[in-house]
Formats: sequence, structure tokens, C-alpha cells
Amino acid sequence: MPILDPNTLESFSRSPEQTRRLGMRLGALLLAGDVICLQGNLGAGKTTFTQGMAQGWGSLDSVTSPTFVLVNEYRRPDGRRLFHLDAYRLESAGEAEELDPDIMLVEGPLVIEWPERVEAILPNERLWVNLAYVSEEHRDLVFSAHGARFETLLATFRQAAYGVG
Ligand SMILES: Nc1ncnc2c1ncn2[C@@H]1O[C@H](COP(=O)(O)OP(=O)(O)OP(=O)(O)O)[C@@H](O)[C@H]1O
Ligand SMILES: [Mg+2]
Repeated sequence: MPILDPNTLESFSRSPEQTRRLGMRLGALLLAGDVICLQGNLGAGKTTFTQGMAQGWGSLDSVTSPTFVLVNEYRRPDGRRLFHLDAYRLESAGEAEELDPDIMLVEGPLVIEWPERVEAILPNERLWVNLAYVSEEHRDLVFSAHGARFETLLATFRQAAYGVG
């Protein structure tokens, strides 16, 4: 696990299950207001990682958001929600403008696939994850924290997932 700098973490996954487990570790730490951006090509593992995050966060089920067509909600027994936006399906900049991250962030964490497509509506403070295909079952994940909350989150995740501070 090479450490590039304190606010960056590089990690590898050798299977979809491993990616899901990494997601679970991160999901367990998420709070309302957290923004997690997942950038990577088709099949890089963004949705697999998101499913792990939702599970680790404690979701029991997922439903389509009544407010935003492109947003899937994972619900928890305590009434909290984790929002999952797949910006790949956005057809225009206008559609992106209808999304209001602030409304979602009051209620829960927000996970975004293809965040580069909605960069303009995203807060500057966030955890950015680059996922890359290496070979059939091998993926490279690079986590970059932007802002104090995400620096703390990444440090806690590093400790939880790898046992090093
Ligand atoms: N180490 C791995 N981590 C994650 N997925 C893997 C891994 N190895 C193989 N896979 C496979 O790669 C695919 C990843 O699909 P997934 O839907 O998670 O990608 P995605 O990044 O969300 O793609 P899209 O941009 O199409 O939404 C799955 O079929 C999964 O089984
Ligand atoms: Mg996906």
C-alpha cells in the first residue's frame, strides 16, 4: 500500500468481492454531508464499490429517489439515506442543474459515478476516488482527500482498512 502523500492513498483490488469489502470499510465511516466521487472507465468497479459502501453504511434496500430521476437512494432502518447519482445517464448540462446536492447532503452522504460530468455542481471539499482497470480481476484505486473532513475520513479509512495511521 504505497502512501503517495498524507491526503492520498493507493490501493489494489484483486476481485469484485475485495472491491466491495473496501467499499464497506469506507461506507461504515460515512456521515450526512459527505461527498464521494468515483471516477473511472466503464467496468472499472464504481458500482461494485458503491454497493459495498451502501452495505457498510447499513442500508437494507435501495429505491429510486422520488426527487431526482437519476438518483438512487439506499435507506437505513433509522431513516437515513445514502444517495447514489450516476451522472453517465445525464443528457444535458440543464439536467445537471436540476440536481441540488445540498438538498441531498442535509440528509445523507452522496456518492457520484462519472463526477467529471457534473463537476460544476459539486462542492470543492470531497473524497475523489480514481478506479482503473489493470487486468480482468485487478483494479487500481487512488483516493484523494480534499478538505479537512475528507483528510480525517481518509486517515480513518486507511487505519480501518490497512491498520496503519
Ligand atoms: N477487482 C474488481 N473490482 C471490481 N469489479 C471487478 C473486479 N474484477 C472484475 N470486476 C468486474 O468488473 C465489473 C465492474 O462493474 P461495475 O458496474 O462495478 O463498474 P462501473 O465502474 O460502475 O461501470 P459503469 O461505468 O458502466 O457504471 C463487474 O462485472 C465486476 O464483476
Ligand atoms: Mg456503474
